[in-house]
Amino acid sequence: MKQDILIQTKEWVTERFSKDTSGHDIYHIRRVYHLASKIAQQIPEANSWIVKMGALLHDAADHKLTDSSLALKEISEFLSNVNVSPKDRDQLLTLIPQISYSANKPVSELSLEAKIIQDADRLDALGAMGIARAFAYGGHAKQAMMAEADFSKQRGGHGTSVSHFYDKLLRLPDTLHTKMAKKIADKRVMSMQNFLTQLENEWFSNDF
Ligand code: ADP
Ligand code: NI
Repeated sequence: MKQDILIQTKEWVTERFSKDTSGHDIYHIRRVYHLASKIAQQIPEANSWIVKMGALLHDAADHKLTDSSLALKEISEFLSNVNVSPKDRDQLLTLIPQISYSANKPVSELSLEAKIIQDADRLDALGAMGIARAFAYGGHAKQAMMAEADFSKQRGGHGTSVSHFYDKLLRLPDTLHTKMAKKIADKRVMSMQNFLTQLENEWFSNDF
């Protein structure tokens, strides 16, 4: 039964995210689902079904992508239609708006399941995938890819996609909750630092 609900939810989110070009596409949802499930496997106290459902739905009411309160109503209706129990539905509807970085929820308010999904979501903003998503988002938001200032002493605060690495991405590992996510993050951050060094090596603008 719960397995059937997962299948129906996968279909519902696939439909909803199939046209996204902001870096929150269905493959992001699938990666977060995979990572969150893997982390949950290591933590027996976690309700893995809630983790999986929450991972699938975590971006479905994001204010950057949609009208959040309308989307939460639609999610609630969907969950009732597929016979999710009121208790599970309440847990999911509480957790979904807490996941996003911009929601900025105090850690003390997060359930274990929310922490796991948040870690998986943040890991997908790191590594090669994180680099790709930062530039995809930058294009979507019509923001400059990089600027001279990004290669000055003052890194960050320049409103470009490269600046975003210093403003947020390289700081994400400090916000992770689980041991497993922290371990995965270490490798991913290293690859981003290598990328930034290489980017700087290829940045020739001085003889213009
Ligand atoms: P969350 O999924 O936690 O809400 P965001 O939606 O802010 O986080 O970020 C989703 C993706 O978009 C991440 O990969 C992030 O790096 C990228 N992103 C968000 N804001 C920017 C920005 N200003 N410049 C470049 N990339 C961004
Ligand atoms: Ni996400």
